[in-house]
Amino acid sequence: MIMITRTLPFLLLLRGLSVVSQVSPSANVTAVSIDLLDASHILHFLDVVDAFGHVSARNPDNASQFIMSFSIAPALATSQDLVTYEIDNATAIQLTFNNSVTGEDVPSGFIERYIHSQIYKAFPNVTGVVHAHTTSVISFANVGVGLEAQMGVAGSIGALKHGTPIFDYDALPTSILPEDVPHNLLVDNEAIGDALARTFKDGSAVVLMKGHGMAVQGLSVRDVAFRAFYTMENANVQSMATLLGALVPGAKPPTGLSARDASDASNTADTSLVVRAWDLWTAQVDQVPLYVNDLRPSA
Ligand SMILES: *[C@@H]1O[C@H](CO)[C@@H](O)[C@H](O)[C@H]1NC(C)=O
Ligand SMILES: *[C@@H]1O[C@H](CO)[C@@H](O)[C@H](O)[C@H]1NC(C)=O
Ligand SMILES: *[C@@H]1O[C@H](CO)[C@@H](O)[C@H](O)[C@H]1NC(C)=O
Ligand SMILES: *[C@@H]1O[C@H](CO)[C@@H](O)[C@H](O)[C@H]1NC(C)=O
Ligand SMILES: *[C@@H]1O[C@H](CO)[C@@H](O)[C@H](O)[C@H]1NC(C)=O
Repeated sequence: MIMITRTLPFLLLLRGLSVVSQVSPSANVTAVSIDLLDASHILHFLDVVDAFGHVSARNPDNASQFIMSFSIAPALATSQDLVTYEIDNATAIQLTFNNSVTGEDVPSGFIERYIHSQIYKAFPNVTGVVHAHTTSVISFANVGVGLEAQMGVAGSIGALKHGTPIFDYDALPTSILPEDVPHNLLVDNEAIGDALARTFKDGSAVVLMKGHGMAVQGLSVRDVAFRAFYTMENANVQSMATLLGALVPGAKPPTGLSARDASDASNTADTSLVVRAWDLWTAQVDQVPLYVNDLRPSA
């Protein structure tokens, strides 16, 4: 008893000191970070991303900031890798879970973080972004054919007459992509990021990137991960349907969903399907020791 009364003030003092240097992220930031780590692992588990690609969230506590890991493979992300960035210029503010590491002390971010900053800047309604090099999607971009929603779970792709827009890096004007900089396909500054963000059109959540991959926007981290996965699945269905339509006697080219069906199905997915998928996908990544979400107990 005596020992407790003597040590308690000392423990409280220690606790007080650590609070001064280490402000815990809010419950909302922790919740979105749990989803962000799960999304990083799930997108890898589902083969949407490989060593490259990234997913981010708008900061729920501050709409002028976003949260994304620094430059590591998404499969390996843990809470200590998450960084809070300025949307204004994609510069690092601090490690999301250690505010004593700030500014230039934060490990290097993804060179293509401008994909995220410029989409958040252009679309105040967007709270989650995915960029991925998914090969089945690149095939469409490279032949100049956009995706059209082929099934309800991919309704967010939209039913655009000529498919999703395609971002063509080589068609950028020299005012955005000068001759004397490396032409390496990377969205590595605000101007190229803005050009990409301007490519989204008519409510499609997806822009294909020729020779590169795709950018996807969503209404939450879970939503954008769901959309990215089903964009890949849609590309697989659309390519097979297009081949069958062209090669099999009597077959017709795929018409895809009507605009009404795509839009209604997308709303249904957002409001009721994502939860069931998330329960499955988090249970799956919990079975694989490679993926560590240190912010939530595994199932
Ligand atoms: C946390 O998020 C909830 C749900 O979006 C919201 O109602 C609440 O105001 C947020 N809390 C803070 C402190 O921003
Ligand atoms: C929100 O973020 C902006 C940009 O980082 C910052 O200038 C501002 O102070 C933040 N607001 C709050 C309430 O923290
Ligand atoms: C980035 O943007 C923030 C918010 O507008 C600003 O406070 C900061 O000075 C900018 N940093 C750089 C390096 O431009
Ligand atoms: C935060 O980062 C500092 C500097 O790297 C380190 O000394 C400290 O242990 C970290 N704190 C936590 C809670 O990880
Ligand atoms: C955000 O709003 C724009 C219209 O300004 C819309 O086209 C887009 O689909 C919306 N994004 C999401 C993720 O719903």
